Amino acid sequence: ETVFLKDYAETPYVIEKVELDVRIAPDTSVIRALLTLVPRANTAPGTPLVLDGEELTLRTVAIDGLPQALTAYAATATGLTIHQPPNKRFVLETEVAVEPEKNIRLMGFYRSSGTWCTQCEPEGFRRITYYLDRPDVLAPFKVRMSADRVLAPILLSNGNLVEQGALPDGKHFAVWEDPFPKPAYLFAMVAGDLGSIHDEFTTASGRKVALGIYCAHGKESECLYAMDSLKRSMAWDERRFGREYDLDIFNIVAVSDFNFGAMENKGLNIFNDKLVFAKPESATDADYINIESVIAHEYFHNWTGDRITCRDWFQLCLKEGLTVYRDQEFSMDERSRPVNRIDDVRQLRQTQFPEDGGPLAHPARPDRYKEINNFYTATVYEKGAEIVRMLATLLGEAGFRKGMDLYFERHDGEATTIEAFIKVFEDSSGQNLQHFQQWYLQAGTPEVSVTDRFDAATQTYTLDIVQENKPTPGQDEKQPMVLPIKFGLIGPNGSPMSWASVSGGEVRDDLIVMDTNKLSLSFTGIPNRPVPSLFRGFSAPVQLSTNASEADQLFLARHDADPFNRWQALQDVSMRLMLEAVGGKPWSDAQVAAIADALTETLSSKELDPAYKALALGLPNEQTIARAIGSNVDPDRIHEVRTGLVTALVARLAPTLEKVYLTNDSRLAYSPDFQQTGRRSMKNTALALLVLGKAEGAAKLAREQYERALNMTDRLSALSTVVQSWTADADALLSDFYRQYTADPLVLDKWLSLNALAADDAALERIKAILASPDFPRNNPNRLRALMATFGMNNPTQFARQDGAGFRFLAEFVGDVDKRNPQVAARVLTAFRVWRSFESVRRGEAEKALKSLQESGELSRNTADILERTLAG
Ligand code: ARG
Ligand code: ZN
Repeated sequence: ETVFLKDYAETPYVIEKVELDVRIAPDTSVIRALLTLVPRANTAPGTPLVLDGEELTLRTVAIDGLPQALTAYAATATGLTIHQPPNKRFVLETEVAVEPEKNIRLMGFYRSSGTWCTQCEPEGFRRITYYLDRPDVLAPFKVRMSADRVLAPILLSNGNLVEQGALPDGKHFAVWEDPFPKPAYLFAMVAGDLGSIHDEFTTASGRKVALGIYCAHGKESECLYAMDSLKRSMAWDERRFGREYDLDIFNIVAVSDFNFGAMENKGLNIFNDKLVFAKPESATDADYINIESVIAHEYFHNWTGDRITCRDWFQLCLKEGLTVYRDQEFSMDERSRPVNRIDDVRQLRQTQFPEDGGPLAHPARPDRYKEINNFYTATVYEKGAEIVRMLATLLGEAGFRKGMDLYFERHDGEATTIEAFIKVFEDSSGQNLQHFQQWYLQAGTPEVSVTDRFDAATQTYTLDIVQENKPTPGQDEKQPMVLPIKFGLIGPNGSPMSWASVSGGEVRDDLIVMDTNKLSLSFTGIPNRPVPSLFRGFSAPVQLSTNASEADQLFLARHDADPFNRWQALQDVSMRLMLEAVGGKPWSDAQVAAIADALTETLSSKELDPAYKALALGLPNEQTIARAIGSNVDPDRIHEVRTGLVTALVARLAPTLEKVYLTNDSRLAYSPDFQQTGRRSMKNTALALLVLGKAEGAAKLAREQYERALNMTDRLSALSTVVQSWTADADALLSDFYRQYTADPLVLDKWLSLNALAADDAALERIKAILASPDFPRNNPNRLRALMATFGMNNPTQFARQDGAGFRFLAEFVGDVDKRNPQVAARVLTAFRVWRSFESVRRGEAEKALKSLQESGELSRNTADILERTLAG
């Protein structure tokens, strides 16, 4: 049942060529596959051929044109075995029938709002035809599709369109050929009645690429931002990595039933429509930012994923971590380095840190799995990107690029491994990266603590750095990690301080490279005690604690030349106050005043971007505080303390925040650009603080903004503020929003999420009623996630209600949805990953809810795996 990395072995047969003939029709579609197979040189004659297959109705099997007797093969629930294949090249021909309309798991070939489409990664192709469905089996595909001309005027697959024409009975066909050998998980097919927009991109070497985005009729104009993002991505990959597109066609299709964000199928990316459609009246700034980054992500996969793919699914991080790194860099170049970095780190801490610190912790490259779908995680994606970022930090920009060039040169056309990836950087730089490679192998977030001391007599300044790597499930003993620590020492006047010499460890300019559990670095020639700025730009994904005083942190908040750490310092000061308050020590007026002053200074800066200022205004959220507390967490107490600090700050800052609000309120025509987005973000953050802090007139201001907003960003921000503070208008405005937008499912998702976030006492009853209502679209992943993943992950007080009602509700939901869509069920269930950190009553309730899910009957492999690990870890 468990698959192990150590058991990797090549297939005994190679697939040289794939020809598919797909006859698409309502209810039943028929797939005829011609696979040209060759035994490997070392394959013993008569070795059975074992193909994967699931939920296929087998009609015929032939070899080299000869129909096979029933005794020559065996078809089971998991595949097709040919007992004695020829001992030379042969063509296996199978014909199967599938029922896309009944495929509500949305893996393989399915139908979404009338459109036939596919999702094959990781193991969906076996639900289309019998195949060696694993990423190291690469073959060129030729696909003939036919369907009714009215139901499906559009027929798309990977590669280039080589032929099309009419057929009898109102049908037509199209033949697509993809010259690049690819694994089956990159196969895609779309058939339907779709609208489209078209554009063109000329690559650096002069290839003209026809770009198309296909969508539901009427949605064409909402695809323009995605198209613009695509063209910018294509240009960026040429500039930054020297990577050109390689086919004459690049198509994107938006579908409304999709299990995750998007998919990088060669030449035919398929997207969840929420990551394509954008117009100011229905999409927020955050939606525009996501669209830009996911369009880029999938496009960048063409090189890091498609041209160079993974040998096996344990290597998933090879393509995902690297491609997230690439899309982050793209968005930074398009927008702002510091602002994007802070956002990315916030996301890492919000999604990956709790995973890494709980029962579902796993290495970025796991060495075993029961269900690979459960490993499309924040660790593989976001921590994977941090690992690549650390490589770039260690090697420098030029060194990293040199390694990437070698990676593309050496591994193009291959299915490869993390080891091979590390090796190209060793070979191109001459550095030994074997120890660094532990980042892929060891789970858990290193905890780093730093204490400093200054000896005035000898003018010596010492940093004592300790890293601790705590056990994670299945890994009791850990090695120290290689930590690139970007740093600076700041003198009393706020300017950088240099040193005469340093001893005790490796320091390269502004980079400490630590690879031991303890390090004591002494800097000489230091006239006064400096304040250290450590892990600048969040140079390693660690949990840092230091002996910095509150005064030091406030000093850093004003003087650190590194914008990330300046932001971090402000977070640290308010976190310190809130942690002490939760522990029973109330803050003093002077402490609040000091934070208020630092914020005022940040807000009045002429150099800082509005988007940065908005981030500075944002206090650590409740889950971040819970994580800092670590154990015996009481979410109600955290909620109370945080609201208290906001109220205390607002008592001092209300006039400043009102001014911020007014000066950034604009009636300019909407643009999703960085400047406008930043100003909206600043304005709306100020509004949220004013409302939560109960400033006079703030609730009214929010209602007015809701009513007169010219774009969804402003309307939703106002509503979200009203809902999260649960002001007197909350119920009425929520209903109004529902009435206005019921017809637009993507906006309806925003309404669902707001309901899921409300923290008032009636919230749970409202959510239950929404889910129970007969017209709730119970099979659409976006709707289900907007309501239930948001509830579990982002509503700490209601999900973790002390009476256990939130836990029970979520567990029952998982049990129910698991029967229809195991991937959505398993994903929502991961909300329980923090259950052991709660105080004992909540912990007991969470455990009861998990156990009753376990006893409720047959669960999918996806959900059973998450449940088992959540309870065990
Ligand atoms: N490869 C896709 C991407 O990151 C995502 C596929 C997700 N698959 C899954 N089973 N969760 O771009
Ligand atoms: Zn990806």
